[in-house]
Amino acid sequence: MVNRSFRQSIEEAKKERGSNIVLALDYTNQDPRELFLESEETLKAVSPYICAVKFNRQLVLPLGLYSGVKKLVDFTRTLRLPSIMDCKINDIGNTNHEIANHYYKAGFDAVTANPFVGWEGGLDAVFHLAEELDKGVILLVYMSHRGAVEGYGQRVMDPRTDRERLQYQVFAEDALKWGADGVVVGATYPEIVLEVNEIVKGKVPIYSPGIGVQGGKIESALKRGTEYLIIGRSILHSKDPVKSVKAFKGIADRCLEK
Ligand code: XMP
Repeated sequence: MVNRSFRQSIEEAKKERGSNIVLALDYTNQDPRELFLESEETLKAVSPYICAVKFNRQLVLPLGLYSGVKKLVDFTRTLRLPSIMDCKINDIGNTNHEIANHYYKAGFDAVTANPFVGWEGGLDAVFHLAEELDKGVILLVYMSHRGAVEGYGQRVMDPRTDRERLQYQVFAEDALKWGADGVVVGATYPEIVLEVNEIVKGKVPIYSPGIGVQGGKIESALKRGTEYLIIGRSILHSKDPVKSVKAFKGIADRCLEK
């Protein structure tokens, strides 16, 4: 069982705030200064109701990793929240190592990676670096969009057993074997959340994006084993992000009380 700091800090934040919501801080604004300011403002306002912040290229590209994004990551830490870089690492080991190293150096506590590239000469470099720096790695297992079935849902021959499997089943087993700190399964596919949870036996927390705009429902995901809800646009683009995050938290609370 993995026990790296990232896992502990997100669990602590979840307990302390009573929230399992990971904010996807994905504002889009053509003016980098406005983009920074609105990201900072919302982050501060919603911070009592979330357990982590997930960044993506929406901020890294316009703001720069070691400038605007690092400032936001540092600010996230002062709010006692961990930050995740959803960079979906997907290359050869040497390149993967560099990508992960920059994100960790900029202060991110965890990165996301795509298991399609495999272990040897692929994601082994990322997991070894995470071990060395005491950081987290979250693996994609089944994405939230419709086309996910074309890759994550395809039938494959597992080269290790020569048995026909579904791709995401193999990835869920990889997550357990490789010591991932989390797996991503779209809330839009609750039955797959359930199946993945059975494979990882509750030992790897499930992160589910796809709530709200993409159509996923909090209740059905939580009931089937999702531990953390990733929510972006439904909070950021609402008239009142605080009211919106509180409403999502309320739904999750009621569901977890049952
Ligand atoms: P929304 O606005 O749809 O934002 O609530 C969701 C955030 O999560 C990312 N996303 C995913 N990330 N696997 C991932 O690793 C997924 O299946 C997935 N679906 C959405 C999305 O890029 C955004 O940052």
